[in-house]
Amino acid sequence: MRESKIKTVGKASLNYEGKDYELPVLAGTQGPNAVDIRKLYDQANIFTYDPGFTSTASTESNITFIDGDKGVLQYRGYPIADLAEHSSFLESCYLLLNGELPTKSQMEKFEYTISHHTMVHEQLATFFRGFRRDAHPMAVMCGVVGALSAFYHDSTDITDPRQREIASYRLIAKMPTIAAMAYKYHVGQPFVYPRNDLGYTENFLRMCFSVPAEDYKVNKVLAKALDTIFILHADHEQNASTSTVRLAGSSGANPFACIAAGIACLWGPAHGGANEAALKMLEEIGTVDRIPEYVKRAKDKNDSFRLMGFGHRVYKNYDPRAKAMQIQAHAVLDELGLHDDPLLKVAVELEKIALHDEYFIEKKLYPNIDFYSGITLKALGFPTSMFTVLFALARTVGWIAQWKEMLEDPHQKIGRPRQVYTGPTERKYEPISARK
Ligand code: SDX
Repeated sequence: MRESKIKTVGKASLNYEGKDYELPVLAGTQGPNAVDIRKLYDQANIFTYDPGFTSTASTESNITFIDGDKGVLQYRGYPIADLAEHSSFLESCYLLLNGELPTKSQMEKFEYTISHHTMVHEQLATFFRGFRRDAHPMAVMCGVVGALSAFYHDSTDITDPRQREIASYRLIAKMPTIAAMAYKYHVGQPFVYPRNDLGYTENFLRMCFSVPAEDYKVNKVLAKALDTIFILHADHEQNASTSTVRLAGSSGANPFACIAAGIACLWGPAHGGANEAALKMLEEIGTVDRIPEYVKRAKDKNDSFRLMGFGHRVYKNYDPRAKAMQIQAHAVLDELGLHDDPLLKVAVELEKIALHDEYFIEKKLYPNIDFYSGITLKALGFPTSMFTVLFALARTVGWIAQWKEMLEDPHQKIGRPRQVYTGPTERKYEPISARK
């Protein structure tokens, strides 16, 4: 069990109905302090009200830190730009899971363990056949990952640390295999088995793009770019899908069901589905001369259109991942000789116009991680419908690290928010004959 590192640094007072209440103020190692309201309802018989949790810390965590005003993102204290430049996705997985960067021997053991969990039960292949070929790959991922608990029930006892560890390895290792199977099923090509002589991301590219008819040679530049993209997507504090995984896990649900719940939440266009929506938006805009028309629509309160890939609940400055994504976009397009990609031209021009537009400046709307990822993933050869699958593949380690932390938290209990009820007060049942 993990000991709390939260410190009480002061008190906040609340005066309500003529009574004064003193509430402890808590501090972590960095970031805003928090008013501890855990006893408020018992003491004062009132709730706090915070739909969307914009001002609510739902947990203590020592995994990922974000400062939205300064555009800071750190995994276990390491800035995302450093990890994107120097680390690998699997090394970042080790860091997120264990809290420290691995030594050489720890990394070798971790790589061996993960690579020897990449195969899935052969029966799972028949599971795909129940889906239509044109099913959205995210629908397939929700179904297949949720079904893993039917195949790996020997790692579903969440009270057993060893089973939690094996389930974590299985999910990190099998997500690329399942994602590649979802893609192959979608395009009507045969599944490709993982290979232990390839690195994590090279293996994934080969399972997606190799065909029995010819040998497949992994492009190392593209594999490195995708590996970095996975690092950028690995974790992000208490975002919607991570909070979904934590809430599901707080009931004692097995890890496979919790990750399937996270995948379902990530699919939303306001969240992980934004990379697919951002590319569709760029394709709809089509050319640079049509950008002003869409910027006008994004600002129109009566128009539901939003600039997908822009804005963020936490980042009110530049999303540090968007900068790193832009670098990977140029690396991939240059490697493939696509630097004249018309969509990139629209994206770069749209970003420039938006960043100088009063509305976006006032609302602090900057490009987020999804703005450049669509262009990059399309250039790598993935269909738009696979973009959020790739986000889910990368975010699995973050979900699992947060799920494990939640289970090892001594203060952890089932998540059960309350409400402010505004429905009808008690009334008498009337027989249908009496209703007008
Ligand atoms: C991810 O939480 C995470 O960490 C998520 C994520 C992760 O790694 O897990 O970072 C991944 O989900 C990134 C975000 C991807 N989503 C999109 O790109 C979709 C487009 N963005 C918006 O839907 C929106 O910006 C959100 C959902 C991302 C954030 O919404 P908020 O914080 O609830 O802000 P809001 O909707 O209240 O917007 C504030 C104002 C509003 O105007 P007012 O009501 O105040 O007048 O800004 C406007 C909004 O209308 N606004 C936009 C806009 N985003 C917000 N206007 C035009 N285009 C946009 N994209």
